[in-house]
Amino acid sequence: MKIMVIGSGGREHAVIKALSKSENVDTIYALPGNGGIAADAICVNIGATDIDGIVEFAKKEKIEYAVVTPDDPLALGAVDRLTEIGVPCFGPTAAAAQIEASKVFSKNLMKKYGIPTAAFEVFEDIGDALSYLETAPIPTVIKADGLALGKGVIIAMTRDEAKDAVRSMMEDKIFGASGSRVVIEEFLEGPEVSVLAFTDGKCVKPMVSSMDHKRALDGDRGLNTGGMGTIAPNPFYTDEIAEICRKTIFEPTIEAMCAEGRPFRGCLYFGLMITKNGPKVIEYNCRFGDPETQVVLPLLESDLFRIMQATTNGTLAETEVKFSSGAAACVVLASDGYPGKYEKGFPIDIPLDVEAYVAGAKLEDGTLVTNGGRVLGVIGKGETLSEAIKKAYEGADRISFENKYCRRDIGKKALAAK
Ligand code: AMP
Ligand code: GLY
Repeated sequence: MKIMVIGSGGREHAVIKALSKSENVDTIYALPGNGGIAADAICVNIGATDIDGIVEFAKKEKIEYAVVTPDDPLALGAVDRLTEIGVPCFGPTAAAAQIEASKVFSKNLMKKYGIPTAAFEVFEDIGDALSYLETAPIPTVIKADGLALGKGVIIAMTRDEAKDAVRSMMEDKIFGASGSRVVIEEFLEGPEVSVLAFTDGKCVKPMVSSMDHKRALDGDRGLNTGGMGTIAPNPFYTDEIAEICRKTIFEPTIEAMCAEGRPFRGCLYFGLMITKNGPKVIEYNCRFGDPETQVVLPLLESDLFRIMQATTNGTLAETEVKFSSGAAACVVLASDGYPGKYEKGFPIDIPLDVEAYVAGAKLEDGTLVTNGGRVLGVIGKGETLSEAIKKAYEGADRISFENKYCRRDIGKKALAAK
């Protein structure tokens, strides 16, 4: 089959590598892909949010299946448009993608269907938000309603910080129109777990759990980033917690989306916090996580393409989704300075025996050079988590480019939990 994958990050590289193992996949196009993905797919210079361009390409090349991974094209209706012209897709419709695209939508959904999450209030008026903050419990969490590249969340430790956050979102519009409405919510504490789950709108099959490391510096200090590394499985996600999540979060969410007339198909990402009062939803994403996917898919033993087709056809219940019992770690190599200012354009050397998923890199006269903040993710796999982490760092140390930076403590918290 001739398929296409929309997107250009390390996550897409991991998806493409997993899909290329399927005997039913012959040709993979990446729109737009990147310099590293070019080794595993045919990259086509059409942007992930150029929906017209994507649809035209699918028609012209007679694409037989499309995988839409990033949030923006999903929210813009890429799946709706491709389905209209007869191209089956992996991913939710625009209506179902609202579960990530609007925090107000997802918070109200959880409230209506009794799905555990932080208590919250929604504000459209800055005056109301500021006066609420006069008496709100502190710390508190301020979230812009819309998509904000994963940066629309501010944790305020004082009342003044909370008010500044509201002003910056609603008045200064630091996240653009996304901040026209804000959610102010209860501050929760506990270990965080990411669970990605396949669903066909009726049945939900969770993948192996994982843990992201969002801050730029060791010890969870520094600025929030897109993710500096991941490990799987997450030791805080015990079998007992998994069962509670299935009953109180996963299945109720799938049923709620159906009841709302927005059945969700594709990969639903549950960002969970394991609080003293049980697991609660911090956020939903309507797609694979990045860099969670980079540790989850290497542990998948079943055929990814077959599972994806099952989410489209509504046959997930009969389809095997099996993970290995081992562990995986991903260490992100970034350009020093990220998520602030950094230099790019430096040649990258990756030894052939190191497994890496490339994100911010491009080909220049046949040489792979750095082209982004997060350059690539190095993968280590093993029987145990400590073995996987050791292998990932051994690989990371053998890759070279100027201004290479990585956290040195990926997986440390997980190892301490064991
Ligand atoms: P998000 O972009 O929604 O994933 O939020 C970014 C990070 O903010 C999460 O990974 C959590 O660490 C933190 N966060 C979000 N909501 C809350 C909350 N209600 N309480 C505590 N931390 C939160
Ligand atoms: N790793 C977090 C996300 O994909 O949103």
